[in-house]
Amino acid sequence: MLPLTLDHVEFSVNGRDIIRPITCEIQAGTRTMILGPNGAGKSVLMRLCHGLLQPTRGRVVWHKAVAAQRARDQAMVFQRPVMLRRSAIANVMYALKLAGMAPVECRLRAEDVLEAVGLASVAERPARVLSGGEQQRLALARAWALGPEVLFLDEPTANLDPNATRDIEQIIGAIHASGTKIIMSTHSLGQARRLGDEILFLSEGRLAERASVDLFFRQPQSPEAVSYLRGELP
Ligand SMILES: Nc1ncnc2c1ncn2[C@@H]1O[C@H](COP(=O)(O)OP(=O)(O)OP(=O)(O)O)[C@@H](O)[C@H]1O
Ligand SMILES: [Mg+2]
Repeated sequence: MLPLTLDHVEFSVNGRDIIRPITCEIQAGTRTMILGPNGAGKSVLMRLCHGLLQPTRGRVVWHKAVAAQRARDQAMVFQRPVMLRRSAIANVMYALKLAGMAPVECRLRAEDVLEAVGLASVAERPARVLSGGEQQRLALARAWALGPEVLFLDEPTANLDPNATRDIEQIIGAIHASGTKIIMSTHSLGQARRLGDEILFLSEGRLAERASVDLFFRQPQSPEAVSYLRGELP
C-alpha cells in the first residue's frame, strides 16, 4: 500500500491552522521519524495519515487503496494507549479476533508476540495493572500481532525511564526487521537519531524540513531545525 502520498494536506479547527499545507511521499523500507517540539502537530499528522482525522483540505492517498481496507494493513499505537479491562493476552487476542483471525490461531499468535516483547510471564495479569512500560510493550505487541504493513507509533516512549525506553526501542527495531514500515513521532533528538532513517521535521504545523537522519543532524537546512538542534526555545 506504500508509498503514502500527502497531497497539500491541511488541517484546521475553528479557523486555526494546526497542519499547514504538507505535500510529501513516504516510501516503504525506511523508518520515518516525525520530529518536532510539543504542540508541533505530530499527533495530528499521524492521525491524518492513519485516517482517524480527515484533512480540511488536500488528500491522503495510499498507493494501493484496498476497497474495504483490512484492519491489519495499518496499525497505530497511541501516545496514551488504552487497554481493555481484561488480561494482557486477551487484549492481544481481541485485536486479532477483530481482524478476522480464527480463535485457535489467535492464542498462538498472541503467545508468540508476548514472548517477543518480553511479557510472557505477565500474560494472564489484568492489562490495566501492568506498569507504564509494560503497558507500552503490550500496546506494541497488540499492534505487531496483526503483522501490519505500516505501523504508526505516536511517541511510544513518552513518560518512560531510560531502561524501559531502551526495551521499547529494541522492540521497534525488531518490528522494523520483520518488514513493517515504521512511521513514528518523537520530540527526542537522541531517539530520532537512534531509530530513524529519515526525519520529517515539524514546526508549528509546517513541514520545515525533510532529510536523511545523517544529513539532518550534520547539516540542518531550516532555521527551525537549527534552533531545535541547539536546544533553543523559539
Ligand atoms: N481536535 C482538535 N481541536 C483543536 N485543537 C487541536 C485538536 N487536536 C490538536 N489540536 C491542537 O493542535 C496542536 C498540535 O497538537 P498535536 O497533539 O498534534 O501536537 P504534538 O506535536 O503531538 O505535541 P506533543 O509532543 O505534545 O504530543 C496543539 O496546539 C493542539 O492543542
Ligand atoms: Mg503528540
